[in-house]
Amino acid sequence: MPVHIRSEASGRHSIDLPRLRRSAEVLLKATGQQRSELSILLVDDPAMRVLNHQYRHKDKPTNVLSFPMQEGTEIADGSLLGDIVISVDTAAREAESMTTPLRQRLNWLLIHGLIHLLGYDHERSETEAILMEFRERELQNHLLRTERKNTMTQLAINVDHVATLRQARGINEPDPVLAAGICELAGASGIVVHLREDRRHIQDRDVRILRETVKTRLNLEMGATPEIISIALDVKPDMITLVPEKRQELTTEGGLNVSGQKKKLAAVIAQMEKSGIPVSLFIDPDPKQIKTAAEIGAAFVEIHTGRYCDATTETMREHEFELVAAAANEAFALGLTVNAGHGLNYQNVSRVAALDAIHELSIGHSVMARAIMVGMDQAVREMLALVRGNS
Ligand code: PXP
Repeated sequence: MPVHIRSEASGRHSIDLPRLRRSAEVLLKATGQQRSELSILLVDDPAMRVLNHQYRHKDKPTNVLSFPMQEGTEIADGSLLGDIVISVDTAAREAESMTTPLRQRLNWLLIHGLIHLLGYDHERSETEAILMEFRERELQNHLLRTERKNTMTQLAINVDHVATLRQARGINEPDPVLAAGICELAGASGIVVHLREDRRHIQDRDVRILRETVKTRLNLEMGATPEIISIALDVKPDMITLVPEKRQELTTEGGLNVSGQKKKLAAVIAQMEKSGIPVSLFIDPDPKQIKTAAEIGAAFVEIHTGRYCDATTETMREHEFELVAAAANEAFALGLTVNAGHGLNYQNVSRVAALDAIHELSIGHSVMARAIMVGMDQAVREMLALVRGNS
């Protein structure tokens, strides 16, 4: 399945060429052309304008052009399909106006170009336009499903409650830093700590030492207050998760109202991104919040699973699960990396972990509760087995 891919674009926009090649390979396989040859060329607008003028007599750039080597729609596997040329400049403009990631826009243009090479033409008739659009949507869904299946759900462990126990005595043990190391050795993909304004569990010292010791990924959970923002900018965790924080609550109670504080959150995201810190927003499984999170430039969302976990009847649990599943799919389709967490335990985690769109789960209390009984290493390994679906 030779896919020849070349970029003559200026490099203004960063493009993952190996990933684009993998997308092309998946698409060739899905269209029964896995042994056929395809060339992809990425250019800037000026070069595209020249091609568009030369071949279509239109003196302006366009997003994608296809140059088929075969005729008709009955193309044998193993053929030379032809060339797809994509303007990265136009793709980037379109991506921005559609608030979709450039990677997804490029995938869509690749699909469009490939369908032309396979003999479809939306300019020939209305019926063909409808057929082509249907095929495009089918291939786009196939590509999304394949991308999701190729990534295993990861497990980040929240060690706040090791600090809760320490603070109960006001001495220096147990130490969340040591606990984090054991979690990592047991296979956790990340460590999460919530530096609360009232410092009820995690202390500034914990965050600073964890920054030095965590080998996987340190995710600092925090409210968007000036004091904590300045600590985050100084410590530079691998990412932050913004949560609503109320002084009286026992634990984080609900998702952020992103739509209600769009400007403020957009500014925090921009500030963090400038320092190279990606931002996740902890939100309820609500389409409005997801859309706004994508709009204001969040890299991740963490879907609040609390209502699913706390449901007291089977009907309620089903309903809440459907909301989480739909929200995860929607966020993924908008190009967000999707995490989930809150209230997950050894009984309810499997279904959420099995959702294709979920990248990582953030789990604290249930793992800490088990660790007291069976040890931290075993508690993390048992949860990891459930998350990976092999227990
Ligand atoms: N995600 C967020 C945003 C949280 O606030 C918490 C609780 O600290 C968790 C995940 C973990 O929840 P739990 O302790 O119930 O596993």
